[in-house]
Amino acid sequence: MKKTGESIKENLKLVDVVFELIDARAPRSSKNPMLVDLLEGRPKILLVNKLDLADDKYNQRWLQTFKDQGEMVVGIDAQSGHGLKNLYQMIDHILEDKRKKDQAKGIVSDQVRAMIVGIPNVGKSTLINTLVGRKSTNVGNKPGITRSNQWVKVKDKNLYLLDTPGVLWPKFESQDLALNLAFIGSIKDEILPIDEIGLELIARISETYPDQLEDRYKIKIQNTALETMEEIGRKRGALISKGQIDYTRVANIVLDEFRKATIVRISLEHP
Ligand code: G4P
Repeated sequence: MKKTGESIKENLKLVDVVFELIDARAPRSSKNPMLVDLLEGRPKILLVNKLDLADDKYNQRWLQTFKDQGEMVVGIDAQSGHGLKNLYQMIDHILEDKRKKDQAKGIVSDQVRAMIVGIPNVGKSTLINTLVGRKSTNVGNKPGITRSNQWVKVKDKNLYLLDTPGVLWPKFESQDLALNLAFIGSIKDEILPIDEIGLELIARISETYPDQLEDRYKIKIQNTALETMEEIGRKRGALISKGQIDYTRVANIVLDEFRKATIVRISLEHP
């Protein structure tokens, strides 16, 4: 964590503004409060990403909550580019500020340099690609800075991005928070007990979006999450020999469909 923090801090020295990316489905869990210490007063815009996957009812409330907390915040969908106009407006404000300061120092510059930071899987690479207008980039998910620095220009803007995002470490303050991070894919599935994560997710959706869960799998929610999981397994034919439920397969089905918002657009956390 110390090394990661230091490497992000080094890169922050190069930029005028920081874009902090979080996941709209779990804004609290996907936000790393330690970033504030690394910023050393640099302006930061909070980007609540994946709005398209989260429950609209909560999206607006989250954005307002962050505004009330004094954040410069924009809701976006990095994949489609929805919301980026609002981001550009905010950058123009910052640019105006910077121009004034630069002029006072006798510097003539219209460029803004920015860096994207966030925990794994919140959409950092996707956002870089969308802003720059290219298809894909090979950015690793290791904490810290994984490649040598390169600047890329944002289409039609005087905005330059550090090509490599700062990957913050996820925080594990509680079981609930760690589970949210597992559900949204910010902790690698390979190191997780997938059966249990799937079971926990089924328990959560049974409570918060029961009708949509029943609709999606054509089941009735049972007395326990385990029985509900078994119902889903039977409906989906996720069985191993002798009619035994293949729990890992059921877990993967539900996790995958949650992550694509196929069951319903789910907000795991409410403001
Ligand atoms: P990272 O750099 O922060 O680790 O995240 P990355 O951009 O790799 O995005 C993680 C996953 O989230 C990708 O899906 C990406 O397509 C998806 N994603 C990013 N932003 C949005 C968004 O605003 N809306 C939606 N619906 N999805 C988004 P993947 O399945 O892991 O990869 P791929 O199959 O899309 O390439």
